[in-house]
Amino acid sequence: MSISIGIHDLSFATGEFVLEHTTLARHNGTQIGKYHVGIGQESMSVPAADEDIVTLGAAAAAPVIARHGTSRIRTVLFATESSIDQAKSAGVYVHSLIGLPSQTRVVELKQACYGATAALQFAIGLVRRDPAQQVLVIASDVSKYELDSPGEATQGAAAVAMLVGVNPALMRIEDPSGLFTADVMDFWRPNYRDAALVDGEESINAYLQALEGAWKDYTEQDGRSPQEFAAFCYHQPFTKMATKAHRHLLNYCGQDTDHDAVNAAIGLTTAYNRVIGNSYTASVYLGLAALLDQADDLTGRPVGFLSYGSGSVAEFFTGVPAAGYRDHLRTEANRAAISRRTPLSYAQYRSLHERSLPTDGGDHATPAQTTGPFRLSGISGHKRIYKTC
Ligand code: CAA
Repeated sequence: MSISIGIHDLSFATGEFVLEHTTLARHNGTQIGKYHVGIGQESMSVPAADEDIVTLGAAAAAPVIARHGTSRIRTVLFATESSIDQAKSAGVYVHSLIGLPSQTRVVELKQACYGATAALQFAIGLVRRDPAQQVLVIASDVSKYELDSPGEATQGAAAVAMLVGVNPALMRIEDPSGLFTADVMDFWRPNYRDAALVDGEESINAYLQALEGAWKDYTEQDGRSPQEFAAFCYHQPFTKMATKAHRHLLNYCGQDTDHDAVNAAIGLTTAYNRVIGNSYTASVYLGLAALLDQADDLTGRPVGFLSYGSGSVAEFFTGVPAAGYRDHLRTEANRAAISRRTPLSYAQYRSLHERSLPTDGGDHATPAQTTGPFRLSGISGHKRIYKTC
């Protein structure tokens, strides 16, 4: 009999600040319906000057360590597409901040927003090899587009930490997976740029093509039929994308695509992404957190996942909520992470957006802004310095 492996715990963190789309719309003259209805976004998380993917990742992981300890964790897989260093893994800073033992392997993974799903699948492979071990998977991203560009309204920031192991308390991850890769230039960020470049229309088409390809492979690998799923968690660059994606999938499968059918499948998964914005690698797992926090009992009822990373790679796979999973949720902490954010004026947002770390190799302190558990206190000799608050 095969062993049950999957997500044993899930915790997330998001930025210190929030920009309401009404504030952005007032600045750029956009009708608010385009944001609230057209793309399905209400607000976006904005990191403080002393927050980045490391502080967010550590803040997401710390509660997991507090609950489960470190004794079984021998691997940390850190997925991001807003990396801070071309050589050193952001996970090594997190490893130190959250007090993991030196007997750990740590690595950073990248394939746009898909990276965390690669990490989850690799983690499952490691646990299958040695079921005594657990793997800490961290997905952490800050999404940044040019000011006044179409992508600006889809920015966001968050980190999700997942503990992967045997007999998972939250969700068993099933075989098979459906896979798809295509060499496309829909969204990318060259090494010399802070902000991503994107071909908006091409990116939506590429996402839908990848969904179709991954689903087709999933069915060819003997996956479940669409009627078996209680819900679908999609990568959500903006929440309306989940609607477009599910409609596309139902259409492809020759099913009814009316509003109620789509809403029943994805409605609960969009609650956190709608107010946090695009968190790239973390987005699909914020969808899972929102679903589990709000749905009636889903024990034993399959949930479909579509992870998409521009460029592009996609994977469709299934998770099944474990008996008693509701006793292990972090619903209150999740809601608090969102409600504790401080609203920004447009001018405050713009000044944070325009900030970048000095590159002269000198000693520079960062303004103390975050009320989170970890902060980037400064940069000295090109080295980032992190502190526990
Ligand atoms: N009331 C209601 N709806 C309105 C409206 C109003 N007043 N005004 C416009 N709308 C609707 C439009 O009809 C449109 O709806 P449909 O898509 O259903 O046709 C929607 O609002 C958006 O309008 P536009 O297409 O005119 O908006 P835009 O030109 O500003 O571009 C975007 C939208 C392409 C998503 C842009 O925000 C963008 O480039 N975002 C970044 C790229 C992205 O997120 N791509 C997604 C796939 S790639 C991926 O998933 C990876 C990733 O994370 C980046």
